[in-house]
Amino acid sequence: MIYMLDTADVNKIRRAYDLYPISGVTTNPTIISKEKSEFIKILKDIREVIGADTMLHVQALGIKAEDIIKEAEYLNKTIGGNLYIKIPVIPEGIKAMKLLKQRGVKITATAIFTADQALMAAMAGADYVAPYVNRIDNISGDGVGVVAEIRELFDIYGLDAKILAASFKNVQQVHNVALAGGHSVTVNPEIMDALLSHPLTDWSIDQFINDWGTVYGKDKLSSDVK
Ligand code: G3P
Repeated sequence: MIYMLDTADVNKIRRAYDLYPISGVTTNPTIISKEKSEFIKILKDIREVIGADTMLHVQALGIKAEDIIKEAEYLNKTIGGNLYIKIPVIPEGIKAMKLLKQRGVKITATAIFTADQALMAAMAGADYVAPYVNRIDNISGDGVGVVAEIRELFDIYGLDAKILAASFKNVQQVHNVALAGGHSVTVNPEIMDALLSHPLTDWSIDQFINDWGTVYGKDKLSSDVK
């Protein structure tokens, strides 16, 4: 499984990218809007932090295939690198996926709430499909269950598309998606930290440092002593 970061905050991306095994950054129009800055500058700043090879997922706003295609070409020309165009799973979006696939554009199908939407997007050429786990849970659905069904369908039909599970509100959802074979998850920086955090880990480290310090000296590293 791979981790991606679901934010457009460049400072948070810089910190998390430095610390964690992050394979990509995902954005959507809401996430971009929160930055209250120029759209292309935000994307170029992110690209500068993560480099050309790391995945960057950017959503098209159009609801007509021709508009989505225009945006995809503009974004590929302007931002470049390992770029995925996020396209919602509406009929015109599926049409855009089919046409963009022929042109070699990398596609993430988004706003997915059912396994059947994911299956059709994969058939249309999507490289990633993004089910919205927490938003499904919020309508009394089973977000992790949808991820498990998508994985089952992709395996049954030997499809190359990968799941990029999105919309998480807690660590348990991420844990369950990982167990369901979700290929990849995109989480906000706070959940990324929470995935690692444990008070007993901190307590253990404090104890090691204290015990070591009483014999070898406070703040001494193993490389400082004989
Ligand atoms: O980009 C899709 C997804 O990450 C949205 O998450 O938290 O707004 O449901 P959320």
